[in-house]
Amino acid sequence: MDRYTQQEIRRRRTFGIISHPDAGKTTLTEKLLLFGGAIRRAGAVKARRAARHATSDWMTIERERGISVTTSVMKFNYRDYEINLLDTPGHQDFSEDTYRVLTAVDSTLMVIDSAKGVEAQTEKLMEVCRLRNTPIITFINKLDREGMAPLDLLDDIEDKLQIECVPLCWPIGMGKRFRGVYNLYRRQLHLFTPGSDTRQRDGIVIHDLSDPLLDDLLGEQAGELRQDVELIEGAAGPLDMQQFLTGGQTPVFFGSAVNNFGVQEMLDAFVEMAPPPGPRRAVSREVSPYEEAFSGFAFKIQANMNPAHRDRIAFVRICSGRFRRGMKVVHHRLGKEITLANATIFMARDRDNVDEAFAGDIIGLHNHGTIKIGDTFSEKEPLQFTGIPNFAPEHFQRVRMKNAFKAKHLQKGLMQLAEEGAVQVFRPVGGSDYILGAVGVLQFEVTRARLAAEYGVEAVYEPVDYRVARWVSCDDRRQLAEFEKANAANLARDSQGRLCYLTTSDFQLQYCMKEWPAVTFHKTRDIV
Ligand code: G4P
Repeated sequence: MDRYTQQEIRRRRTFGIISHPDAGKTTLTEKLLLFGGAIRRAGAVKARRAARHATSDWMTIERERGISVTTSVMKFNYRDYEINLLDTPGHQDFSEDTYRVLTAVDSTLMVIDSAKGVEAQTEKLMEVCRLRNTPIITFINKLDREGMAPLDLLDDIEDKLQIECVPLCWPIGMGKRFRGVYNLYRRQLHLFTPGSDTRQRDGIVIHDLSDPLLDDLLGEQAGELRQDVELIEGAAGPLDMQQFLTGGQTPVFFGSAVNNFGVQEMLDAFVEMAPPPGPRRAVSREVSPYEEAFSGFAFKIQANMNPAHRDRIAFVRICSGRFRRGMKVVHHRLGKEITLANATIFMARDRDNVDEAFAGDIIGLHNHGTIKIGDTFSEKEPLQFTGIPNFAPEHFQRVRMKNAFKAKHLQKGLMQLAEEGAVQVFRPVGGSDYILGAVGVLQFEVTRARLAAEYGVEAVYEPVDYRVARWVSCDDRRQLAEFEKANAANLARDSQGRLCYLTTSDFQLQYCMKEWPAVTFHKTRDIV
């Protein structure tokens, strides 16, 4: 591989940003984009969202509810780094897409509201990061408000997320008494001025905390900082890069996104610590990003981004080599050669056609339903990347249709939507109806809207009692047959024909697992 391509790959940082709604993810994203020069003024991200709602017909739901269903990819430069930031929809009604985006990143930025600590959605997203041991950097936000004590916050993260916290800076007070942060590795003090966009890079260097300058600057709070630092330096271990890179430790930063305080220090540390694109597992072997031949996989399909065309965009993560406009690649599932003529790259400002892109980048491929989640593209060698899963749904609905003559359309629509990852479709063993499964309830509305708009089928939902789903497998065929016989009423097959156990509660699931120790119950299942 030529040096230029190698350098381009090495300077890429592809990360996802996760949080519970309202923790400040949008505000932080915006500040990051400002530093990257991708937007010029604050408010642009929200304004862009609003504009999208106003102009796009797609996702009336999105507009009606004023939420972002779609996951966006934003690209910007910072220092010598080329950054791909993948947003995860932050509403309660997030979807399986939100989870799957995290399979396409090399690291994650976790935003936590200092008043709330670790919240439910963050816990769920963290579970997904665990699947690939993704490195995580933590930003504790809203220090300008009264919140939990910093030590309690770290405790909460360690306890709920099972990851060791290594604070790299330490806050001085909070709320009205918030004076700034002390950078523990640079030994620098950054003072906070409320209401101002405090963007100064260089803090006041204070190597030795006994320096009387600290008392001049912080008054009585100098003593508190000395005590805190002594305590945490004794309690928290040093940052171990290997631990960080395998998701065992998370470096922690404190700040206030809306005041743009502590954001640049975090970004500076982030680009240096977060890993460049790494190797990816395929069925046959591991693929290095520095291999000459291009390869990539689709992790998200988005329909109707442009309502004038009925096309879909497949988001493809490049895993190795370099993409060039017009290059020919093999779509392995179809066994067909295709020309990548008009790939889109997602800039923060707008979508642009690209001439070249590198491992780590995300490109969008236009298609008319020929790409499904998990599809792999490469120049020659047949590859199938692994680790792109379906996630066990938590919400269920039975589908009925109003017009029985449209049964074929319904079936076709459901199968295609399942392949795109919009929803999961199950058929009970021995039954003929369809049961939809989703990670977020909004997926049901999206499915109904798309069935009507794209397949001309009016679907009616009926409640079902299921709350829990697990894919099942068993090496012993006789045991599996017995299990199937005993649990026929609770078994269904997904759109790929894989056996799944559906039940009404965690309690029931636990009971069944105890009864059938030889059977394995899977919370995720790789898409093949
Ligand atoms: P999200 O994407 O994670 O859902 O959160 P978002 O950035 O939309 O922020 C949620 C609310 O928290 C917003 O207020 C935002 O202004 C506020 N916020 C973000 N960072 C900070 C911070 O550092 N300190 C304080 N005090 N507030 C912060 P909002 O009233 O819901 O919206 P807006 O009218 O301010 O836009």
